[in-house]
Amino acid sequence: MIRFSRLSIFFFLLLPLGSFADSANDAIARATAAMVAGIPRAQADPLRPIFHVTSPAQWMNDPNGPIFYQGYYHLFYQLNPFGDGDGPKHWGHVRSRDLAKWEPLPIALAPSTEAGEAGVWSGCCTINDRGEPMIFYTSVAQGKSAFDHAEQWAATSDDDLIHWQKSPANPVLSEELHGGRKIYDWRDPFVFHDGKKTFLVAGGHLEKKARAAVNIYQAENSDLTKWIYRGVLFELPDPNTPTAECPNFFKLGDQWVLFVSPYGKVQYFIGDFDATTCRFKARAQGTLDYGSSFYAPNTMQLPDDRRLVWGWINGFPGGHGWNGCLSLPRLLSISRDGELHQQPAPQLTKLRGKPVEWRNLHLENHNAALTLPKTNTLEIQADLSLNTESIIEIKLKSGATDAQPIYITFNRTTLGVMDSRAPLQIGQKLSLRIFIDRSVLEVFANETVCLTKIIPPLDNNSTLEIHSFEDPATAKLVRAWPMQTIW
Ligand code: FRU
Repeated sequence: MIRFSRLSIFFFLLLPLGSFADSANDAIARATAAMVAGIPRAQADPLRPIFHVTSPAQWMNDPNGPIFYQGYYHLFYQLNPFGDGDGPKHWGHVRSRDLAKWEPLPIALAPSTEAGEAGVWSGCCTINDRGEPMIFYTSVAQGKSAFDHAEQWAATSDDDLIHWQKSPANPVLSEELHGGRKIYDWRDPFVFHDGKKTFLVAGGHLEKKARAAVNIYQAENSDLTKWIYRGVLFELPDPNTPTAECPNFFKLGDQWVLFVSPYGKVQYFIGDFDATTCRFKARAQGTLDYGSSFYAPNTMQLPDDRRLVWGWINGFPGGHGWNGCLSLPRLLSISRDGELHQQPAPQLTKLRGKPVEWRNLHLENHNAALTLPKTNTLEIQADLSLNTESIIEIKLKSGATDAQPIYITFNRTTLGVMDSRAPLQIGQKLSLRIFIDRSVLEVFANETVCLTKIIPPLDNNSTLEIHSFEDPATAKLVRAWPMQTIW
């Protein structure tokens, strides 16, 4: 756990180093003080995850601007430092050398209230053509509804991405760019490059409650402060989709991938991008996570061109002094048959403690309850060999007799995690990675299906039972590790 004293001293020490204007300094100091005041309560809460990225306290939502820069993985996130519910959005900040251990950093961006700004909403971080780190985000104005009016602003940093100055060129993109076209909920800029060209996509919808669309813009200067509108990159196939928040558009291998958050489960599309016409044609479509707690993901390009994604895990009970965390980092790839694969970042194995394991369990007559490591922060791996009709049931149960078990089931074509279902077509092998971090559960099945849920935490005396019905099945390996904190 982060200790309160270490963290608060850290925040206050860093603040005077800022070279930004006084009003920005004041706004960040006020936000920091409010957040630090919330730390003792947030950190004492037994629901609070310890190996997922969280804000030190208060409300957080979307991951913003993931970037690997000068040897650090940086993540920013939407933060309301003043309370554990929705409120004026700032950008919180953490970084890591190895994707396993993380370090909280000072709040990166606060609304410039003197310039009429009410919220610093989601966006991205990139390096402009002059080598300068640059954030793009949606600026929401005081007294205006983001549904009807938004601007895209930029900020630059000349140190280790810790202190940021808003661009004198703001707004760097405004609605006038669209000519006569009205775009509702216009937001969440994401910059990408293709050859020598730099593009930006932003989400929204073309009718009041319909025609979700991702819009595309092309940079006209190396500072990335001048842009032209190139039209609609992609309109979602179902015209009733209400919106397309937080678009991410990137190349994975030789294919283009688009993520959008449509107020429901996050959708991905795989297809081709024509950089001349600025249009995307999708060949395949899928769901990034089948739980109801994963939203607004954002991706990071790695130096070797691989890509990681983090989502916002939401749906926690209110009133605990904190709310929200980021998913574990997931490494993305496209399989030979054109499916999107997600695998927990390999570096997460550094957080594992000493495992317990069982091998070659015949599940049709396996009645023993396996004793898990004595903690409620766990990783469980289960490699199963199935027959055509096998039905599998995994039951995770606290020691307390009245505790409600967590069920993970598989019946030929469907993976079930508590009350959520996901289609899963497999051959004879089912490989599960299950992460339990107090009130967070993330399940990866055969790297193709992910399902994130909020759960009542297990206690420190939990067991695992695993059975097969209808047709025999074998657990080649079941292994469980206690997981350590990332802080
Ligand atoms: C997605 C979202 C974004 C917006 C941000 C505000 O969860 O609605 O579209 O920029 O949250 O916090």
